[in-house]
Amino acid sequence: MPSWSKIMNLPPFKLERFFAKYEFNTEYLLCSSDCEAMSIADLLALEPAAAEKFQNTWLGYTESHGSPALRAEICKLYETIQPDDILVHSGAEEAIFLFMYATFQPGDHVIVHSPRYQSLAEVAVAAGCDVSLWRAREKNNWALDIDELPHLLRTNTKAIIINTPHNPTGYLMSGEDYAALHKFAQENNLLLFSDEVYRESEYDPETRLPAGCDFGEHSISLGVTSKTYGLAGLRIGWIATKNKKIYEKMASLKDYTTICNSAPSEFLAEVAMRNKQKLSERNLGIIRHNLAVMDDFFARNSLLFTWIRPRAGSMAFPRYLGGNVEEFCDHLVRKAGVLVLPGSVYDDSDNHFRLGLGRKNLPQAVERLELFLSSYRLSHA
Ligand SMILES: Cc1ncc(COP(=O)(O)O)c(C=O)c1O
Repeated sequence: MPSWSKIMNLPPFKLERFFAKYEFNTEYLLCSSDCEAMSIADLLALEPAAAEKFQNTWLGYTESHGSPALRAEICKLYETIQPDDILVHSGAEEAIFLFMYATFQPGDHVIVHSPRYQSLAEVAVAAGCDVSLWRAREKNNWALDIDELPHLLRTNTKAIIINTPHNPTGYLMSGEDYAALHKFAQENNLLLFSDEVYRESEYDPETRLPAGCDFGEHSISLGVTSKTYGLAGLRIGWIATKNKKIYEKMASLKDYTTICNSAPSEFLAEVAMRNKQKLSERNLGIIRHNLAVMDDFFARNSLLFTWIRPRAGSMAFPRYLGGNVEEFCDHLVRKAGVLVLPGSVYDDSDNHFRLGLGRKNLPQAVERLELFLSSYRLSHA
């Protein structure tokens, strides 16, 4: 088991602390990872009798593994998974924490896709693991190089943590590489934790990868209602796996974190998952519109920014070429009320920043950004 003192001393989650400072007092959030949310009323309107059923939702404790009806809906995302292979959590974040706490021992080695959403590496470090970063590089369009994996492997390697579609670059692994990654994990007796919270937001549905959990017992898929479906306030996430040992360990730890999920959220998540196609089409419509705005913006400002167009999801990770990106982000939010996220929250030191593509007001935010740039360029010329 990981040492308690290390878990208690987890360092601050840089991204969350950054958002805590700005999220609820800044006019334009141009760096959100989630898609445009909606009201409970709008979600319930997707089904004729849902509003009345919601009123009658029973507010007692719920089943610890997640309601059977919700698990049956979530199952439809996968090919080979049964409702009993789904463990519902309070957001994807709880599932990441419990997976790592349940699985890793001090001295284990873990390979993590980088740049990384902080908890995907940090909880492993807190659990006493050595972490090697499997680095995606901008010069390769943020692709991971499968040939680097054997060089990262150690005798004590326990798991690979992968995130595709990727936060923050929008990289989507090819089907060929994803199959090779699973083969590598299986041949080397490794677990593969596949963070798929942006799955179903591929711009070309033909490029959607099979879910990790469908490759076999070595793999655990992570999903959530927050991102592609735009329902972060439900705080409903899950893991899907045929690995009963990991499943049982996580389920038993969950008794010490949240015990069970919120009954209203589970009901609303069930409605959402039954209507997931409508939700993802709505959000992909917003992203496609915003991508066109960003393509034009970056074409007009190609001397100031690099632009690797994402292939999936609601984010991109351009580089600022006009000076220090921290200063740029700071001036942009203070003077123009537009928030972009400096790459330092991902421990990136190459002047990148995160751009969010899932919000309806992106065109107005970009207008503000461009106005800001004209005066900023003059004052920094
Ligand atoms: C890659 C990735 N995994 C997990 C999470 C956690 O999702 P949630 O906040 O909905 O629990 C996020 C949130 O940004 C994420 O980007």
